Amino acid sequence: MNTVATAQMRQTAFGPDRALKGAAMLWFTVALAGQWLFVVYIAIFYGGSTLAGDFERIDGRVFHGFIAGDVLGNALFMGHVLLAFSITFGGPLQLIPQVRNRFRTFHRWNGRIYIATAFIISLGALVLVYSRGVIGGPWMIAANTLNAALIMYFAFMTIRRAMARDFRSHERWAMRMFLAVSGVWFFRLGFGFYAFITGGEMPGSQNNLEGPFDLSLAFAYSIVPIVILELYYRARDTDGPVAKTAMTGGMLALTAATGLGIFMAAQIFWLPNM
Ligand code: HEM
Repeated sequence: MNTVATAQMRQTAFGPDRALKGAAMLWFTVALAGQWLFVVYIAIFYGGSTLAGDFERIDGRVFHGFIAGDVLGNALFMGHVLLAFSITFGGPLQLIPQVRNRFRTFHRWNGRIYIATAFIISLGALVLVYSRGVIGGPWMIAANTLNAALIMYFAFMTIRRAMARDFRSHERWAMRMFLAVSGVWFFRLGFGFYAFITGGEMPGSQNNLEGPFDLSLAFAYSIVPIVILELYYRARDTDGPVAKTAMTGGMLALTAATGLGIFMAAQIFWLPNM
């Protein structure tokens, strides 16, 4: 067989490269469905409650919703939820190659909005967290601060690499940013998944979110997805098939865990409030 035919076969055959890419795409598709379910919940619960003027309903859902007299805090909270809707809906569109390649102007403008929203939502949330406190105490504040710092750092690097026209690096930073922005969503999935595997017992989790499980999850939701992404890049960029095949298996397992987490989070947090 000549070398051209061999090269063509390598490109079309279902080898480790394509298997890994397929597994990553499958994960992203499941994640996208779960993120947009979160978006639907935000729109129906917060949008619906606000339009109906039912702020007590919102207060019953979160630790600090509306505090009498705290005009700035209340406005920041409502702004937070509104921006959460925008960033969770629009962000993933940046990562879909077909959208990126066919609608370049949209990608540029949506990207600018995404980056700006990431900074505004993170800075606003930090003001909220430090002025009002959070359920979970000082460690939860530290975990929230880490998440906000990572979002802003990754957003900064994403735009910087795009402006330098280094699109390979830009794409990697954008992916890191997407995972950091998805932290709050991962947090809910983590609880859902843990509820499933412990049959609802959830040892180490407390109502005040100060249990060892709660606080570990609060840090893990920012760190673990980034570590997995770096492992994925390493496997993708090595020559041998072993790392790629192992990572493909890992991605498929993660896809199943993500799907289960979404299903459980929907049952516990989202669907009852829609
Ligand atoms: C960037 C992506 C983010 C999204 C999509 C997001 C989304 C949300 C949503 C939907 C809520 C309402 C709670 C619910 O109904 O589940 C919320 C509340 C909250 N978020 Fe975020 N958030 C993001 C980033 C952050 C960051 C970086 C911080 C911390 C620095 C933060 C701190 C908070 C706090 C303190 C609350 C109120 C929780 C309570 O009082 O119970 N968020 N967020």
